[in-house]
Amino acid sequence: MDVRPASENPFPWGAAATPYEELGGEARVRALADAFYAIIDEESPVLRAMLPKDLSVSSQKLFEFLSGWMGGPGLYWERHGHPRLRMRHVRFPIDDHAANEWSRCMDGALDRIGAADPVKEFLSAELGKAAQSLRNMVSPDPTL
Ligand code: HEM
Repeated sequence: MDVRPASENPFPWGAAATPYEELGGEARVRALADAFYAIIDEESPVLRAMLPKDLSVSSQKLFEFLSGWMGGPGLYWERHGHPRLRMRHVRFPIDDHAANEWSRCMDGALDRIGAADPVKEFLSAELGKAAQSLRNMVSPDPTL
């Protein structure tokens, strides 16, 4: 049973109440989404091929989603309704490689914006789990 007082921060860092605050608020979450899509554009052909030419809307939507998911303003919910991430990703071929690429680019983005531990480790682990959970296909076995 969790016996910590309700006032105690449940996250593995100091005074900030949420990952959103700990990362540094709106500008930093936006920077994370922008860095993520910039890294995909630079170095992940498999993810780049799934995305539109102009990445600004994709980045804006990820920013809005992460804002609420990290405990900040629920911008995605307000503007687009329930995220239904599984349903919205069904049309993309997400195998192990694509999910791992997503996490690799997100880890790169956390580094690029200079996110500090432990919030960096927390986001990397939780978003990594989310990416794995969105896999919707198995890669063909090249030995068969
Ligand atoms: C597992 C690997 C993943 C792949 C390959 C992937 C790919 C994509 C693609 C191609 C889009 C459409 C972008 C556009 O049309 O602009 C998209 C949208 C989106 N993705 Fe992912 N994604 C992955 C994981 C995730 C994860 C882990 C999250 C959240 C933690 C996430 C959040 C979103 C959101 C919020 C959108 C916008 C949905 C909308 O159109 O309203 N994705 N994703």
